[in-house]
Amino acid sequence: MDINKIDYNKLPQHIAIIMDGNGRWARTKGKFRIFGHQNGITSVRETIETAAELKIKHVTLYAFSTENWNRPKAEIDGLMNLLVNTINNEYATLMKNNIKLNSIGDISKLPIECHHKLKEVIEKTQNNSNTTLTLALSYSGRWEIIEVVKKIIKDNISINDISEDLFSQYLTPNNVPYPELLIRTGGEKRISNFLLWQIAYCELYFSDKLWPEFRREDLLQAIIDFQKRERRFGKTTEQIKN
Ligand code: FPP
Repeated sequence: MDINKIDYNKLPQHIAIIMDGNGRWARTKGKFRIFGHQNGITSVRETIETAAELKIKHVTLYAFSTENWNRPKAEIDGLMNLLVNTINNEYATLMKNNIKLNSIGDISKLPIECHHKLKEVIEKTQNNSNTTLTLALSYSGRWEIIEVVKKIIKDNISINDISEDLFSQYLTPNNVPYPELLIRTGGEKRISNFLLWQIAYCELYFSDKLWPEFRREDLLQAIIDFQKRERRFGKTTEQIKN
């Protein structure tokens, strides 16, 4: 896939990714599921380096959902260790590519060393300005919506002041544009409780590749596909073209 096929005037400002298929990929190799997650790190690195090269402003990765806490303890422990090691080892990648790290989700639920490492690297990369990489950790869209409702009630907001704009200001982080392209790997065609409010008008792209197989050319292919879509936001084709 040739990067020259990308139209730099029509890049999505924000790409969100559901990285699915690690377990199945490991099984095809006769290995434990964690082997799939470990190999998924190469795909994470290629994806964020390519996004940074294209100067895509935001990438959000669904790394651990609220529902993932129901997985076997050994897999959760393996994933949390992998997270700490990856954030540690890839700090250089983030700095080299001028990438700012961020997170969404209930990170207070993460093991303490994971929480600390995440906060440390978030702080150390705060002045990077090319791409913001947001890790969704202990995150779900419904959890996030309930958090917003709680904050709105706590702030005694009058019912007349409740609007889509106000709601979006309560989302954290509130200055991030909504995703324009959502990629899901692994062949399943569902949203799995990811960014439910934010993806109302997002373009969806499903790849049959399992996440550890996802490479730079697959990301470029998804962006090229996105660039061919007509985004109407409820309007007609004629209205969009005029
Ligand atoms: C889904 O595959 C993937 C996850 C639950 C975890 C994704 C995590 C990583 C790729 C590693 C950590 C990421 C970062 C950014 C440090 P699955 O296990 O549901 O696969 P399956 O559908 O084949 O079972």
